[in-house]
Amino acid sequence: MAQIGKDIDFAISLLEADKLVGIPTETVYGLAGNALSEPAILKIYSTKNRPKFDPLIAHTNSIEAIYELVKDIPGKALKLAENLWPGPLTLLLEKSDKIPDLLTSGLPRVAFRIPNHQLTLELLNKLSFPLAAPSANPFGYVSPVEADHVNEQLGNKINYILDGGRCEVGLESTIVGFEGENPVIHRLGGIPVEEIEGLVGKVEVNTNNSSNPLAPGMLKSHYSPGRKLIIGDIENNAEEHKDLNIGIISLSEDYSHLAKKNFTLSAEGDLEEAACNLFRALRLMDDPQIDLILTEEVPNTGLGLAINDRLKRAAV
Ligand code: TXA
Ligand code: MG
Repeated sequence: MAQIGKDIDFAISLLEADKLVGIPTETVYGLAGNALSEPAILKIYSTKNRPKFDPLIAHTNSIEAIYELVKDIPGKALKLAENLWPGPLTLLLEKSDKIPDLLTSGLPRVAFRIPNHQLTLELLNKLSFPLAAPSANPFGYVSPVEADHVNEQLGNKINYILDGGRCEVGLESTIVGFEGENPVIHRLGGIPVEEIEGLVGKVEVNTNNSSNPLAPGMLKSHYSPGRKLIIGDIENNAEEHKDLNIGIISLSEDYSHLAKKNFTLSAEGDLEEAACNLFRALRLMDDPQIDLILTEEVPNTGLGLAINDRLKRAAV
């Protein structure tokens, strides 16, 4: 298993030697390596078992650092960056030649974000290169929101995980690109659509193009908890499948009387709290005692859109 700790200098020594380190962010834990080094990038793809057509996000600690690696940061992108970074926002920007094609799977744009996590910002401050970091889970599985989750799944493949506690947002970043001047959301995530629209006006949401190479990572089947998951009316579905060992993930109602295992995302129905608990709940249900997971749609507002998006992908 990997060592877990808060030793930034040890993490730096590994990263400078093209090795990988699990890092905390406010969204999910990342599997980090030098974003400008092809050997490190190759290690990320192979460790995650990730197809090379699915590009990686690069993380930095400042907008200035990004300017050196892209052709331009257009006006609306800069407005989002200045208002929402550090935070759960990723911007797709025209890359310069300094960015290896391997990082972007040969695409002309590179994904950048400044994460909002003290330990990782300190790490980035001390490094002379950006960190490529996809979520630190095997390809297709639920994203990790605690250091232990990383260790459970990738601990035999990496040396070190920086422990930053539990991720505060719990859902991956919102990915925004631009068609000309117009913002397009390619992945729903930790920044609600409404907040982005408040800054740059109407945005298009285009997240379901599983075979579109412009958003290659948004494959339909993702976030798999390892067993069948049905979204719908929990009571009806529980009745229909009462011969099975059922796990229930509900927004706010307690269904423990119907389930072998039950997880309420937020007793108050608070969507931020629900988002923060979602991946923990899915992971908990990945249990040999559970045959089937039942869950329900949450209101389609704020982080609810991203929660419903992840549930639908987990259900495929
Ligand atoms: O919150 C997050 O974004 C986390 C933390 C660790 O920062 N990272 C994350 O990375 O979720 P990952 O690799 O699991 O998801 C990255 C997504 C993929 O869907 C990928 O296809 C998309 O970003 N992406 C990356 N670079 C891209 C590019 N150049 N063009 C289009 N999509 C890109
Ligand atoms: Mg991921």
